[in-house]
Amino acid sequence: MTSGGLSKAEALACPDCRHACHVMLYSDTKARLFGRIPIRHLVLMQMRFDGLLGFPGGLVDPSKETLEEGLSRELLEELGMEIPVLAEDYLTSCRVPSSSSLSSRLITHFYVKKMEERQIEEVEKAAVSAATDHGQEVLGMVRVPLYTMRGGGGGGGLPSFLSHSFIGTARSQLLDALLRLRLVTPQELHRALARALEIHAHTSESLQAALAPAEEQGKRSCDAPVHV
Ligand code: APR
Ligand code: MG
Repeated sequence: MTSGGLSKAEALACPDCRHACHVMLYSDTKARLFGRIPIRHLVLMQMRFDGLLGFPGGLVDPSKETLEEGLSRELLEELGMEIPVLAEDYLTSCRVPSSSSLSSRLITHFYVKKMEERQIEEVEKAAVSAATDHGQEVLGMVRVPLYTMRGGGGGGGLPSFLSHSFIGTARSQLLDALLRLRLVTPQELHRALARALEIHAHTSESLQAALAPAEEQGKRSCDAPVHV
């Protein structure tokens, strides 16, 4: 369980907490990347409106609906199809740590649902063609690469994916689910995280390098005469 973890019953007993439910949809696959690298599992996440990676789902009001009903409602908006999520798909609840007193009362509930490969493909198609949130709150579904590529510095795949930015505790939810469901081994995950840290440091350097010319450009455009 991620830090801040609590049981579903404890979470629902909190009088003034807000609740959000998210789900990891996944399947097995026999497909191979480039005909040789086993993809093993299709795991869905999404690029959110705020530029962060997260899981489909959203805010639920337990006084009006069960957590699972609320989550299914959110999935219809974000994925454009009915995906019944059941109590048995529940994995963890977590109090989201935050400096603001309002957000500190947010509890996220996390579910995992196994599907057939063809159902995952249907979800991806519906998310683009039928979801009301497409292009607004959801900018696109993404598959999580679970393999690590050896070429090009050895970080392609899971290490690079993990080095991106995630909403709240979504990265911990992903790591926890991958281990619990045995979609990757603890050794694979450890290696991928160590490589992700190196990639992150490199990204930080290249952002620093990009900042200097951007600052220079900003100064020049402010100095430029304004023609009306
Ligand atoms: N871990 C922690 N917090 C998370 C996670 C996560 N894995 N995923 C989402 N959150 C937070 C979000 O930052 C948000 O505050 O949970 C809350 C609800 O999740 P969303 O999926 O963003 O909610 P949704 O109901 O889909 O609404 C989208 O519309 O009203 C606005 O700002 C509101 O973020 C909300 C957005
Ligand atoms: Mg959402």
